[in-house]
Amino acid sequence: MAQTSLEDTMLNEREIESCYLGQFIPVHYHHNMLMDQNRMHGFKSAINYAVKPGMKVLELGGGTGVLSWFAAAKASKVWCVEFNPDMVKEARKMLAMNPNGEKVEVVHADAFEYLPPEPVDVVICEMIHVGMLREKQVEVMESFKRRYLAKFGGALPMFLPEAVIMAVQPLQQEYDFEGFYAPIVQFQETTVIHPGTVELAVPAVYSVMDFSQATSTQVAWAGQFRVEKSGTLNALRFITKNILAVVPEESSTIDWLNHYMTMPLAEPVQVRAGDIIDVSFSYRCGGSLPSLQATMRASIAVDAAAAMAPAGRSPAFA
Ligand SMILES: C[S@@+](CC[C@H](N)C(=O)[O-])C[C@H]1O[C@@H](n2cnc3c(N)ncnc32)[C@H](O)[C@@H]1O
Repeated sequence: MAQTSLEDTMLNEREIESCYLGQFIPVHYHHNMLMDQNRMHGFKSAINYAVKPGMKVLELGGGTGVLSWFAAAKASKVWCVEFNPDMVKEARKMLAMNPNGEKVEVVHADAFEYLPPEPVDVVICEMIHVGMLREKQVEVMESFKRRYLAKFGGALPMFLPEAVIMAVQPLQQEYDFEGFYAPIVQFQETTVIHPGTVELAVPAVYSVMDFSQATSTQVAWAGQFRVEKSGTLNALRFITKNILAVVPEESSTIDWLNHYMTMPLAEPVQVRAGDIIDVSFSYRCGGSLPSLQATMRASIAVDAAAAMAPAGRSPAFA
Protein backbone atom coordinates (compact mmCIF):
# COMPACT_ATOMS: atom_id res chain seq x y z
CA MET A 1 0.00 0.00 0.00
CA ALA A 2 1.35 3.42 -0.92
CA GLN A 3 2.42 5.40 2.12
CA THR A 4 1.12 8.95 2.63
CA SER A 5 3.99 11.34 3.19
CA LEU A 6 3.83 14.08 5.81
CA GLU A 7 3.77 16.61 2.98
CA ASP A 8 0.71 14.91 1.41
CA THR A 9 -1.06 14.88 4.74
CA MET A 10 -0.32 18.57 5.30
CA LEU A 11 -1.50 19.38 1.78
CA ASN A 12 -4.76 17.50 2.35
CA GLU A 13 -5.29 19.27 5.63
CA ARG A 14 -4.66 22.58 3.89
CA GLU A 15 -7.19 21.75 1.18
CA ILE A 16 -9.84 20.70 3.70
CA GLU A 17 -9.12 23.78 5.78
CA SER A 18 -9.22 26.00 2.68
CA CYS A 19 -12.84 25.04 2.08
CA TYR A 20 -13.78 25.20 5.71
CA LEU A 21 -12.00 28.46 6.46
CA GLY A 22 -13.00 30.22 3.27
CA GLN A 23 -9.56 30.70 1.78
CA PHE A 24 -11.42 31.01 -1.49
CA ILE A 25 -12.74 34.40 -0.54
CA PRO A 26 -15.77 34.94 -2.82
CA VAL A 27 -15.58 37.66 -5.46
CA HIS A 28 -18.15 39.88 -3.73
CA TYR A 29 -16.04 39.99 -0.56
CA HIS A 30 -13.21 41.58 -2.56
CA HIS A 31 -15.46 44.61 -2.90
CA ASN A 32 -15.33 45.01 0.92
CA MET A 33 -11.54 44.86 0.75
CA LEU A 34 -11.43 47.46 -2.01
CA MET A 35 -13.74 49.68 0.08
CA ASP A 36 -11.60 49.42 3.24
CA GLN A 37 -9.91 52.80 3.03
CA ASN A 38 -7.42 52.23 5.87
CA ARG A 39 -6.22 49.04 4.21
CA MET A 40 -6.13 50.46 0.70
CA HIS A 41 -4.48 53.73 1.66
CA GLY A 42 -1.90 51.99 3.86
CA PHE A 43 -0.90 49.51 1.16
CA LYS A 44 -0.83 52.16 -1.57
CA SER A 45 1.49 54.39 0.50
CA ALA A 46 3.73 51.52 1.60
CA ILE A 47 4.02 50.09 -1.93
CA ASN A 48 4.71 53.53 -3.34
CA TYR A 49 7.46 53.94 -0.74
CA ALA A 50 9.03 50.48 -1.05
CA VAL A 51 8.91 49.86 -4.80
CA LYS A 52 11.56 51.86 -6.67
CA PRO A 53 11.60 52.41 -10.45
CA GLY A 54 12.52 49.26 -12.39
CA MET A 55 12.11 46.84 -9.47
CA LYS A 56 10.69 43.32 -9.85
CA VAL A 57 7.82 42.51 -7.53
CA LEU A 58 5.95 39.36 -6.53
CA GLU A 59 2.52 39.37 -4.93
CA LEU A 60 1.25 36.26 -3.15
CA GLY A 61 -2.56 36.05 -2.93
CA GLY A 62 -3.36 38.78 -5.45
CA GLY A 63 -7.19 38.75 -5.44
CA THR A 64 -8.40 41.53 -7.76
CA GLY A 65 -4.75 42.44 -8.47
CA VAL A 66 -5.08 45.87 -6.86
CA LEU A 67 -1.86 45.70 -4.82
CA SER A 68 0.08 44.39 -7.82
CA TRP A 69 -1.35 47.29 -9.77
CA PHE A 70 -0.10 49.76 -7.14
CA ALA A 71 3.35 48.18 -7.55
CA ALA A 72 3.15 48.36 -11.37
CA ALA A 73 3.20 52.17 -11.18
CA LYS A 74 6.98 51.94 -10.69
CA ALA A 75 7.99 48.27 -11.09
CA SER A 76 9.19 46.93 -14.42
CA LYS A 77 7.46 43.56 -13.81
CA VAL A 78 5.00 42.17 -11.27
CA TRP A 79 4.02 38.51 -10.81
CA CYS A 80 0.62 38.27 -9.14
CA VAL A 81 -0.09 34.78 -7.78
CA GLU A 82 -3.68 33.76 -7.10
CA PHE A 83 -5.12 30.33 -6.36
CA ASN A 84 -8.83 30.99 -6.85
CA PRO A 85 -9.60 30.54 -10.59
CA ASP A 86 -12.52 33.01 -10.39
CA MET A 87 -10.20 35.69 -9.01
CA VAL A 88 -7.54 34.91 -11.62
CA LYS A 89 -10.11 35.73 -14.31
CA GLU A 90 -11.32 38.84 -12.47
CA ALA A 91 -7.78 40.13 -11.90
CA ARG A 92 -6.81 39.64 -15.55
CA LYS A 93 -9.98 41.42 -16.65
CA MET A 94 -9.56 44.35 -14.26
CA LEU A 95 -5.83 44.81 -14.84
CA ALA A 96 -6.51 45.03 -18.59
CA MET A 97 -8.79 48.02 -17.83
CA ASN A 98 -6.08 49.97 -15.97
CA PRO A 99 -2.91 51.71 -17.17
CA ASN A 100 0.27 49.70 -16.48
CA GLY A 101 -1.92 46.60 -16.05
CA GLU A 102 0.13 44.91 -18.78
CA LYS A 103 3.16 44.92 -16.44
CA VAL A 104 1.32 42.51 -14.13
CA GLU A 105 1.38 38.82 -14.99
CA VAL A 106 -1.43 37.04 -13.15
CA VAL A 107 -0.26 33.52 -12.35
CA HIS A 108 -2.78 30.84 -11.43
CA ALA A 109 -0.82 28.95 -8.78
CA ASP A 110 -0.63 28.00 -5.12
CA ALA A 111 1.44 30.50 -3.14
CA PHE A 112 2.78 27.55 -1.14
CA GLU A 113 4.45 26.26 -4.29
CA TYR A 114 5.10 29.13 -6.67
CA LEU A 115 8.48 30.82 -7.10
CA PRO A 116 9.13 33.59 -9.65
CA PRO A 117 11.38 32.79 -12.62
CA GLU A 118 14.02 35.26 -11.37
CA PRO A 119 14.88 37.02 -8.08
CA VAL A 120 12.56 39.83 -7.00
CA ASP A 121 13.10 42.97 -4.94
CA VAL A 122 9.81 43.13 -3.06
CA VAL A 123 7.24 40.51 -2.03
CA ILE A 124 3.76 41.73 -1.18
CA CYS A 125 1.50 39.37 0.74
CA GLU A 126 -1.89 40.29 2.13
CA MET A 127 -3.37 37.07 3.43
CA ILE A 128 -4.00 38.77 6.72
CA HIS A 129 -6.63 38.11 9.33
CA VAL A 130 -6.69 39.46 12.90
CA GLY A 131 -4.15 37.58 15.03
CA MET A 132 -2.73 35.99 11.85
CA LEU A 133 -5.54 33.44 12.25
CA ARG A 134 -7.50 31.75 9.45
CA GLU A 135 -5.52 33.09 6.49
CA LYS A 136 -2.11 31.64 5.71
CA GLN A 137 0.11 34.74 5.82
CA VAL A 138 2.72 33.39 8.22
CA GLU A 139 2.89 29.88 6.73
CA VAL A 140 3.02 31.21 3.16
CA MET A 141 5.84 33.65 3.99
CA GLU A 142 7.83 30.98 5.83
CA SER A 143 7.40 28.52 2.99
CA PHE A 144 8.36 31.19 0.46
CA LYS A 145 11.56 32.19 2.30
CA ARG A 146 12.80 28.58 2.52
CA ARG A 147 12.10 27.82 -1.15
CA TYR A 148 13.37 31.19 -2.42
CA LEU A 149 16.71 30.84 -0.62
CA ALA A 150 17.08 27.27 -1.90
CA LYS A 151 16.48 28.41 -5.50
CA PHE A 152 18.24 31.79 -5.63
CA GLY A 153 20.45 31.95 -2.51
CA GLY A 154 21.71 35.42 -1.62
CA ALA A 155 19.57 37.93 0.20
CA LEU A 156 15.82 37.72 0.71
CA PRO A 157 13.63 40.37 -0.91
CA MET A 158 11.91 43.01 1.19
CA PHE A 159 8.57 41.80 2.56
CA LEU A 160 5.52 44.00 2.64
CA PRO A 161 4.18 43.94 5.37
CA GLU A 162 7.53 43.96 7.11
CA ALA A 163 6.19 43.01 10.54
CA VAL A 164 3.13 42.69 12.72
CA ILE A 165 2.49 43.67 16.33
CA MET A 166 -0.32 41.86 18.14
CA ALA A 167 -1.92 42.81 21.44
CA VAL A 168 -4.74 41.60 23.68
CA GLN A 169 -7.07 43.54 25.99
CA PRO A 170 -9.59 42.34 28.61
CA LEU A 171 -13.13 43.62 27.98
CA GLN A 172 -16.61 43.66 29.32
CA GLN A 173 -18.66 43.15 26.16
CA GLU A 174 -22.41 43.37 25.83
CA TYR A 175 -23.99 40.44 23.99
CA ASP A 176 -27.63 41.52 24.00
CA PHE A 177 -29.19 41.55 20.54
CA GLU A 178 -32.77 42.85 20.97
CA GLY A 179 -33.08 40.72 24.08
CA PHE A 180 -31.34 37.70 22.55
CA TYR A 181 -28.18 36.84 24.49
CA ALA A 182 -25.54 35.70 22.02
CA PRO A 183 -21.87 35.70 23.08
CA ILE A 184 -20.34 35.65 19.62
CA VAL A 185 -17.10 36.73 17.97
CA GLN A 186 -17.29 40.34 16.76
CA PHE A 187 -15.24 42.55 14.47
CA GLN A 188 -15.23 46.22 15.44
CA GLU A 189 -14.15 49.40 13.72
CA THR A 190 -11.07 50.83 15.45
CA THR A 191 -11.98 54.49 15.04
CA VAL A 192 -15.36 54.56 16.77
CA ILE A 193 -16.55 54.26 20.36
CA HIS A 194 -18.52 51.07 20.97
CA PRO A 195 -21.17 51.71 23.64
CA GLY A 196 -21.43 48.01 24.56
CA THR A 197 -17.71 47.66 25.18
CA VAL A 198 -15.89 48.51 28.43
CA GLU A 199 -12.09 48.37 28.33
CA LEU A 200 -11.16 46.85 31.69
CA ALA A 201 -7.37 47.22 31.34
CA VAL A 202 -4.83 48.63 28.91
CA PRO A 203 -3.79 46.24 26.10
CA ALA A 204 -0.63 44.10 26.33
CA VAL A 205 1.51 43.15 23.35
CA TYR A 206 1.66 39.36 23.06
CA SER A 207 3.61 38.91 19.82
CA VAL A 208 5.89 40.82 17.45
CA MET A 209 6.68 39.09 14.17
CA ASP A 210 9.44 40.39 11.92
CA PHE A 211 8.88 38.75 8.53
CA SER A 212 12.52 39.26 7.50
CA GLN A 213 13.39 36.66 10.16
CA ALA A 214 12.30 33.06 10.67
CA THR A 215 8.83 33.26 12.23
CA SER A 216 7.19 30.57 14.34
CA THR A 217 3.60 29.74 13.49
CA GLN A 218 2.87 28.90 17.13
CA VAL A 219 1.63 31.59 19.47
CA ALA A 220 1.34 30.90 23.19
CA TRP A 221 0.93 33.68 25.72
CA ALA A 222 0.33 34.01 29.43
CA GLY A 223 0.40 37.41 31.10
CA GLN A 224 -1.13 39.65 33.72
CA PHE A 225 -3.24 42.80 33.63
CA ARG A 226 -4.04 45.33 36.34
CA VAL A 227 -7.79 45.96 36.19
CA GLU A 228 -8.64 49.66 35.84
CA LYS A 229 -12.44 49.42 35.79
CA SER A 230 -14.66 47.06 37.74
CA GLY A 231 -16.97 44.86 35.69
CA THR A 232 -17.48 41.43 34.16
CA LEU A 233 -14.49 40.21 32.22
CA ASN A 234 -16.26 38.21 29.52
CA ALA A 235 -14.23 38.82 26.36
CA LEU A 236 -10.76 39.41 24.98
CA ARG A 237 -10.11 41.96 22.26
CA PHE A 238 -7.39 41.00 19.77
CA ILE A 239 -5.54 43.91 18.17
CA THR A 240 -3.39 43.47 15.06
CA LYS A 241 -1.22 46.28 13.75
CA ASN A 242 0.54 45.52 10.46
CA ILE A 243 3.77 47.41 9.89
CA LEU A 244 3.51 47.63 6.12
CA ALA A 245 6.76 49.55 5.67
CA VAL A 246 9.38 51.10 7.92
CA VAL A 247 10.41 54.60 6.86
CA PRO A 248 13.73 55.15 8.68
CA GLU A 249 14.40 58.58 7.16
CA GLU A 250 11.24 59.86 8.86
CA SER A 251 11.59 57.62 11.93
CA SER A 252 8.11 56.36 11.17
CA THR A 253 6.14 53.43 9.81
CA ILE A 254 3.26 52.98 7.39
CA ASP A 255 0.72 50.87 9.25
CA TRP A 256 -2.58 49.16 8.81
CA LEU A 257 -4.61 48.40 11.91
CA ASN A 258 -7.03 45.51 11.37
CA HIS A 259 -10.54 45.67 12.78
CA TYR A 260 -10.57 44.65 16.45
CA MET A 261 -11.63 41.07 17.00
CA THR A 262 -13.58 40.51 20.23
CA MET A 263 -13.81 36.91 21.32
CA PRO A 264 -16.11 35.85 24.18
CA LEU A 265 -14.64 33.94 27.13
CA ALA A 266 -16.32 30.65 28.05
CA GLU A 267 -16.14 31.52 31.76
CA PRO A 268 -16.67 35.21 32.60
CA VAL A 269 -15.00 36.57 35.77
CA GLN A 270 -16.19 39.43 38.02
CA VAL A 271 -13.28 41.82 38.46
CA ARG A 272 -12.71 44.98 40.51
CA ALA A 273 -10.40 47.91 39.86
CA GLY A 274 -6.98 47.09 41.30
CA ASP A 275 -7.29 43.31 40.80
CA ILE A 276 -4.48 41.54 38.97
CA ILE A 277 -5.77 39.02 36.45
CA ASP A 278 -4.05 36.15 34.69
CA VAL A 279 -4.88 35.70 31.01
CA SER A 280 -3.61 32.99 28.69
CA PHE A 281 -4.28 31.56 25.23
CA SER A 282 -2.50 29.78 22.43
CA TYR A 283 -3.05 29.08 18.75
CA ARG A 284 -1.38 28.23 15.49
CA CYS A 285 -1.16 30.99 12.89
CA GLY A 286 -3.60 30.12 10.12
CA GLY A 287 -5.70 28.17 12.62
CA SER A 288 -9.42 28.61 13.14
CA LEU A 289 -11.08 31.14 15.45
CA PRO A 290 -12.59 28.36 17.62
CA SER A 291 -9.10 26.89 18.06
CA LEU A 292 -8.03 30.14 19.75
CA GLN A 293 -11.27 30.50 21.69
CA ALA A 294 -10.96 27.00 23.16
CA THR A 295 -7.66 27.94 24.84
CA MET A 296 -8.65 31.34 26.27
CA ARG A 297 -8.52 31.51 30.09
CA ALA A 298 -8.87 34.38 32.55
CA SER A 299 -8.78 34.28 36.37
CA ILE A 300 -8.03 36.57 39.30
CA ALA A 301 -4.41 36.31 40.44
CA VAL A 302 -4.60 39.02 43.12
CA ASP A 303 -7.93 40.15 44.56
CA ALA A 304 -7.25 43.81 45.38
CA ALA A 305 -9.95 44.04 48.07
CA ALA A 306 -8.80 40.86 49.82
CA ALA A 307 -5.18 41.98 49.66
CA MET A 308 -6.08 45.29 51.39
CA ALA A 309 -8.37 43.77 54.07
CA PRO A 310 -6.89 43.70 57.62
CA ALA A 311 -6.14 40.16 58.84
CA GLY A 312 -9.18 38.38 60.28
CA ARG A 313 -11.74 40.63 58.55
CA SER A 314 -13.53 39.57 55.44
CA PRO A 315 -13.17 41.88 52.39
CA ALA A 316 -16.89 42.69 52.65
CA PHE A 317 -16.20 44.64 55.87
CA ALA A 318 -12.85 46.07 54.89
C1 LIG B 1 -7.20 38.82 1.81
S1 LIG B 1 -7.25 38.47 0.09
C2 LIG B 1 -6.27 39.80 -0.52
C3 LIG B 1 -6.42 40.04 -1.97
C4 LIG B 1 -5.59 41.19 -2.53
N1 LIG B 1 -4.17 40.98 -2.30
C5 LIG B 1 -6.00 42.51 -1.97
O1 LIG B 1 -5.25 43.04 -1.16
O2 LIG B 1 -7.07 42.99 -2.28
C6 LIG B 1 -6.19 37.05 -0.02
C7 LIG B 1 -6.16 36.41 -1.38
O3 LIG B 1 -5.26 35.29 -1.31
C8 LIG B 1 -5.79 34.25 -2.12
N2 LIG B 1 -5.18 32.98 -1.65
C9 LIG B 1 -5.48 32.28 -0.52
N3 LIG B 1 -4.70 31.19 -0.43
C10 LIG B 1 -3.89 31.20 -1.52
C11 LIG B 1 -2.85 30.35 -1.98
N4 LIG B 1 -2.49 29.26 -1.30
N5 LIG B 1 -2.21 30.68 -3.13
C12 LIG B 1 -2.54 31.80 -3.83
N6 LIG B 1 -3.53 32.63 -3.44
C13 LIG B 1 -4.19 32.36 -2.30
C14 LIG B 1 -7.28 34.32 -1.91
O4 LIG B 1 -7.99 33.68 -2.95
C15 LIG B 1 -7.49 35.85 -1.87
O5 LIG B 1 -7.74 36.35 -3.17
